[in-house]
Amino acid sequence: MARYELVKRSVALITLTNPPVNSLSSAVRHGIAKTMDRALSDPKVTAVVICGENGRFCGGADIREFSGPMRGPPLLPLLDSIEAGEKPVVAAIEGVALGGGLELALVCHYRIAHSKARLGLPEVTLGLLPAAGGTQRLPRLIGIPAALELITTGRHVSSQEALKLGIVDQVTEQNVCEVAVEFALRAVAKPLSSRRLSALTVPCPPDLDALLEAVTMQIQKKARGMMAPLACVQAVRAAATMPYSQGIKRESELMATLFNSGQARALQYCFFAERTAGKWTLPSGAQWNDTKPREIRSAAVIGLGTMGRGIAVSLARVGISVIAVESDKKLMETGRQMVIGMLERDAKRRGVSASLNLLKFTLSLQNLKDVDLVIEAVFEDMALKKRVFQELSKVCRPTTLLCSNTSGLDVDALAGVTDRPQLVIGMHFFSPAHVMKLLEVVCGPRSSSETIATAMSLGKRMGKVSVAVGNCPGFVGNRMLKPYSDQATFLLEEGATPEQIDKVLEDFGFAMGVFRMSDLAGLDVGWRVRKESGLTGPDVDPKNPPRRRQGRKYCPIPDMVCEQGRFGQKTGRGWYMYDKPGGTNAKPDPLIQNLLETYRSRYGIKPRNITDQEIIERCLFALANEGFRILEDGIAARPEDIDVIYQFGYGFPRHRGGPMFYASMVGLERVLERLEHYHQAHPDVSHLEPSPLLKKLVACGSPPIQKWREHIKTMHSHL
Ligand code: NAI
Repeated sequence: MARYELVKRSVALITLTNPPVNSLSSAVRHGIAKTMDRALSDPKVTAVVICGENGRFCGGADIREFSGPMRGPPLLPLLDSIEAGEKPVVAAIEGVALGGGLELALVCHYRIAHSKARLGLPEVTLGLLPAAGGTQRLPRLIGIPAALELITTGRHVSSQEALKLGIVDQVTEQNVCEVAVEFALRAVAKPLSSRRLSALTVPCPPDLDALLEAVTMQIQKKARGMMAPLACVQAVRAAATMPYSQGIKRESELMATLFNSGQARALQYCFFAERTAGKWTLPSGAQWNDTKPREIRSAAVIGLGTMGRGIAVSLARVGISVIAVESDKKLMETGRQMVIGMLERDAKRRGVSASLNLLKFTLSLQNLKDVDLVIEAVFEDMALKKRVFQELSKVCRPTTLLCSNTSGLDVDALAGVTDRPQLVIGMHFFSPAHVMKLLEVVCGPRSSSETIATAMSLGKRMGKVSVAVGNCPGFVGNRMLKPYSDQATFLLEEGATPEQIDKVLEDFGFAMGVFRMSDLAGLDVGWRVRKESGLTGPDVDPKNPPRRRQGRKYCPIPDMVCEQGRFGQKTGRGWYMYDKPGGTNAKPDPLIQNLLETYRSRYGIKPRNITDQEIIERCLFALANEGFRILEDGIAARPEDIDVIYQFGYGFPRHRGGPMFYASMVGLERVLERLEHYHQAHPDVSHLEPSPLLKKLVACGSPPIQKWREHIKTMHSHL
């Protein structure tokens, strides 16, 4: 786990050997302790170099060890002893020095980094803080403001930036170990006291309190409800105001609080959930690691509206040539300008040149004969989409993959109108498509494993977190959204206001509450869908029967808002009022208050006081309940996939893990009991009726989320 060699007769070269990133497992810590002892006690050795095998210095702690009891030597005293040693120790940083890896480098007396290395303290992203002295040493090395920024955001820096900040002493393009060994030889006999960071005083800015307060406020605004960044600020404050020995105690106390919090568990769960989300398996046995994706060099995007533009940008910026199709010349010109502008801005931000030569624009599907893959993004209208797929099937060569960005229509019905149903699949992007990281890959019953592999791998290439899901109305994300937003509107009927519900959801950690989010997306979209599905419109009698449609409870308030021309931000009015059309500053609107009051009195509803707890339970337990149904129906393979979809596509707070993890943290018995309670009060709301899977899990003793699959396995998979 740590190899020991003597090089140049007097330098001990210690190489960490724990693939893939040489994480600091108990065996590695043990290896470091043993080899350092040997180096310090061998009189032949005058200096030490620590490096990592396979071009990676060290990726930090082994997260898998967090859940079990602590084994092996603890890291903090081990690192303190390296710093205190009387022989110079040089860190040779190649690849990554992250988390505990950077803390290890900080106790070395010198740090040499390869020009391509990346350094950082990302613990905060896992709900923790750098607790092996990182919060105490980094401020002593680079000052409070820079250390605060790195520790509270977890941002990685390049070796060039690390050199500028003073984290490393030298950057090299040569073999970093060889450079470090020469460096170590030159450092022999030089005094080490000024190189021991724990012994230095912190360069403290005069306005420390104001600085810490400003950062705290920024965090409270951005990282709503997250404990770890605030604990990082407190630890850095300790570095600035206390001697090292006390600061390190404070660091440990803060870490203990974080470590035992649900937030750290949720964030670590997210870390692993994101990694397993790409691993799909079909009932046939075909799976992610035995199916080769096709190579995609060229693609077409049909429809250059909100979604098509972002999809074209996502493809072109990873080097795929794109033919974009619109239905008329004017729209094509507008689309062209938008796509070029987006691509140019994106390239500027990334410091690369825009790949405009990869783009072509056309009005005719006839020009798509030779593309490898097509993504259709025309209006959400089944008849129109079927016409497009029929034509594509005639025009494109027989091997072209045909994908739809539909947000909920039947992908298999589209496959059915083509001559290649096995090559048809849903690629459901989220708006704006070049920014949002989620891609739902919707596998129809006839999509081949190669088609799935290709869509998943294309998603990955575009930088998306891709999740394979089954084909049903709304797939996973939008199917779950319905019970969630239905509960919110039912709560309006019963006495709540949009701003009250949004505040509760935003305090819970959502980036936006349900009503602010609908105003942003546009209220007319859902209204159109409801009209098309016969739930509202001139032919529907709202009074017969009132507040019921198609045999279910129905809340017409969203339709009434739209009937007034209030479509959200774009019209300057929606659930809120805005300064102007397109404005973003949402203010409560007395007209909505009036509308709600009139509505309640028309239907004889006596408004009641709705508690924050009821809002959370009704909205989020209904959301999770639909998630259980989705698992039972085999539309998602595992709860982790649902949680990844909700974090990356719907702004579910990461520190809560996702709707399914949240339900597991609340306790499945409690979720079941509350759903039963609410269903009893609202027997006509089927979404509140506890799902059979939830009941089954509770009957089996509420196993941990990682074990739910064992209870789902026997059910039918639509993947
Ligand atoms: P949009 O209305 O902004 O754009 C649709 C575009 O398709 C229009 O520019 C229209 O001129 C063009 N078009 C229509 N028929 C065409 C044809 N025969 N040939 C070429 N172009 C044609 O719609 P948006 O929002 O971009 O939605 C497109 C699809 O993406 C829909 O299926 C929608 O459900 C789905 N979607 C939308 C999301 C959103 O947030 N807007 C999110 C995820 C999916």
